[in-house]
This record gives sequence, structure tokens and C-alpha cells, in this order.
Amino acid sequence: MIFKEVIPIIREIPSTTEGRDCEEIFRIGSLVKENGVIIETGTGNGRVTTVLALATMNKNVKIITIDDYSETKRYSADKPVWSLDYAKNIFKKLGIIKNIEIVSNKTINYLKRYKGRIDLIYLDDCHLYKIVKEEIRLSKRIMKDGIIAGHDYNNWCSDGIAVSKAVDEEFKKEELNKYNTVWSVNYKKETK
Ligand SMILES: C[S@@+](CC[C@H](N)C(=O)[O-])C[C@H]1O[C@@H](n2cnc3c(N)ncnc32)[C@H](O)[C@@H]1O
Repeated sequence: MIFKEVIPIIREIPSTTEGRDCEEIFRIGSLVKENGVIIETGTGNGRVTTVLALATMNKNVKIITIDDYSETKRYSADKPVWSLDYAKNIFKKLGIIKNIEIVSNKTINYLKRYKGRIDLIYLDDCHLYKIVKEEIRLSKRIMKDGIIAGHDYNNWCSDGIAVSKAVDEEFKKEELNKYNTVWSVNYKKETK
């Protein structure tokens, strides 16, 4: 599948992730190899989960998507819907649910206990500086070789500190890729 074919599918899913960001997420997702594992944080209505599932179709890639829906009220203020039920219905309708594991938890709690592999982690849940830092650090601890990425590499902040500050502190400038507001790093533990 190419991204052009994905656009009409995701257009109807209310989301905070715009088209150009979805295009970059599709590109990053396509890099995940056969039988890989993706963790995505911040399921919301499932737009990014859908992009990742379509980018990895026929590769037997597992997508673990995490959301505690703690911010439903906030996102529902300007979206017609913000719910796990909505996301689940989309996954079922598109026939992608078999590759998706839904986790209702705080990302940090889940990552602290996670013992499996991760080929790609895409972070877009809580944007508080301290939480973003800890999620990146946990990702580095778990991962050997893969992509660490996330949303909102811009000046937007929920606590007065931009997500980009946490990202810049955790990675060297030269290893950071940016496209629109998506950041990503090809992470290899042995080089650290
Ligand atoms: C920016 S939205 C995600 C947008 C989504 N990726 C999309 O495709 O539109 C952030 C989501 O993260 C969830 N969230 C916030 N803090 C969280 C945390 N600590 N752990 C897990 N989920 C969290 C919120 O409930 C919200 O649904």
C-alpha cells in the first residue's frame, strides 16, 4: 500500500495528527521488518494506529497501542468523538484488529514491565517534559536496535516546556530526523 491510498481511509478519523505527519509516520512504519513489534502511545481515535497498521500490512507486525484516556475531556472539546470504542470499530471495519493489541494503562507503567522487543516506538501520549523524558529513557533501556520517534516536535507545550527540549536532551543533534512535527532517531544500543 502507498500513502496516497491511506489518505481517504484516515481522513474520517478525528485526530490531532495531520496529514503530513501521518505521511512521515507511514514512512517510518514501512521500515519495520517482518514479524516486528511497534509500540504506539496515545491511541485516541486510532488514526496513527491505522496508519502504522496499513504501513506494515502483510508483514505480520504486531502493534501495541497504549492509552489511559485520561485526556478524553480535553480532546472531546473540539472533536466529535474521542474513545477507545470508536478506535476499535475502525480497526474491526478495516480488518486490522488482529495485529493490534490494545493496552489501557499509563505508558510508563506498561514500559516498566515490558519484556519483549520493540522495533519502533512512537510516542504521542502525555506531553509533560518529565514524562516525555522518562518514556524516552525507558525506550532506550528496552530497545536494542530500532526507531524511537514521536509527535509534536515544536513549541507547543502542556507544562511550559516543549517536547523538543526533552528530545534534544536525550539525543545528539546529528542523530535526530525531523519532518513537520514528527521526530525520529535510528537507535542502536551498542553504539551508546
Ligand atoms: C495527542 S493524543 C493522541 C493522538 C493520536 N495519536 C491520534 O492519532 O490522533 C494523546 C492521547 O494520549 C493519552 N494519554 C495522555 N497521557 C497518557 C499517559 N500517561 N499514558 C497513556 N496515555 C496517555 C490521552 O488520553 C490521549 O488520548
